[in-house]
Amino acid sequence: MPVINSIAAYADDMTAWRRHLHAHPELGFDCHNTAAFITARLREFGITDIHDGIATTGIVAMIEGDGDGPTIGLRADMDALPIVEQTGAAHASTNEGKMHACGHDGHTTMLLGAARYLAETRNFKGRVALIFQPAEESAGGAGVMVEEGMMERFGIDRVFALHNVPGLPLGHVFTAPGPIMAAVDTFEVHIEGQGGHGAYPQDTIDPIPPALSIAQAFQTIVSRNHASSNDLVVSVTQIHAGTVDNVIPSTAFLNGTIRTFDPEVQDMVRRRMGEIVAGQAASFGVTARLDYITGYPATVNEPGQTAFAADVARDVVGAERVDTEAGRQMGAEDFAYMLQARPGAYMFLGAGEGAGLHHPAFDFNDEIAPIGASILARLAEHAQPA
Ligand code: NI
Repeated sequence: MPVINSIAAYADDMTAWRRHLHAHPELGFDCHNTAAFITARLREFGITDIHDGIATTGIVAMIEGDGDGPTIGLRADMDALPIVEQTGAAHASTNEGKMHACGHDGHTTMLLGAARYLAETRNFKGRVALIFQPAEESAGGAGVMVEEGMMERFGIDRVFALHNVPGLPLGHVFTAPGPIMAAVDTFEVHIEGQGGHGAYPQDTIDPIPPALSIAQAFQTIVSRNHASSNDLVVSVTQIHAGTVDNVIPSTAFLNGTIRTFDPEVQDMVRRRMGEIVAGQAASFGVTARLDYITGYPATVNEPGQTAFAADVARDVVGAERVDTEAGRQMGAEDFAYMLQARPGAYMFLGAGEGAGLHHPAFDFNDEIAPIGASILARLAEHAQPA
């Protein structure tokens, strides 16, 4: 497995960076200490063209290669999750209630490893744009960086990103041309009836039966309104109403998530939800409002760039460890916005056995950091050979 030798040689440094980041997680756009840590490392590597404050705490740092050429963007996410850590690790979170449970500490470390190597060797033409992005887990920091003009400002021609996945074999790479991660939308249904004594329902307008009916009717969107060949998930994940056994509440609330790949399917779900909510509300005599909140779009890999990235991955991990027919994932990823702006590819890197992503016992596997860093570095060298 030809991990780049000099990157393998600073595996211990990468582990130290990763564990520092793990112990100091930050949320959303509030990644100030993380950004300061990244900037300090980049300066140590001799990288001086560093632009911070993009999407609040995002960073784009440029490495000049050997001669004129295009610019490749390599992206790592930086943010953590609002989870109480249960790893018991020596490097566990010191920020109670915040945790790097998705391995973004590892992604940042892999990009730092690639940056150190690329700054030392500069064995490529053009420029490498190192993109460190906040708020992947919440508010779509990738979209904000794109809106702030990052692609034009730094002349980025194509973009790549890697995400670790526990449970997939260690050091194996999974990707696919076309849609690879779903679009994620959120719905909220606010139902208003009229509360009263639990013993006298005839004097109330109970919001609970329509809440249950709406939740049940939503199940028929996938089963009855939709062609089964095109992936769709509709999950009701919250129903809230009431406070005590003998009071009929005035209001009820439903919430959930919708995962799609096809904008037409997305439109159908939104339309059917509106029809169901209006119809059920009328039949039960309550008022109900649907809030349909559009989230990250589907993450769509450009086929040519995906084939290129898979070739690079084969070079690093071996052909037998690269799968270019990975199935679509119903999870979502805001790298989608960067892939809407520029061609590129998103890849999964197997992390071996361990607790799953977003689990309180998850810890990034430091063994894969040199592999990921090597893939990122080789993407630049192969895309823009000196
Ligand atoms: Ni993640």
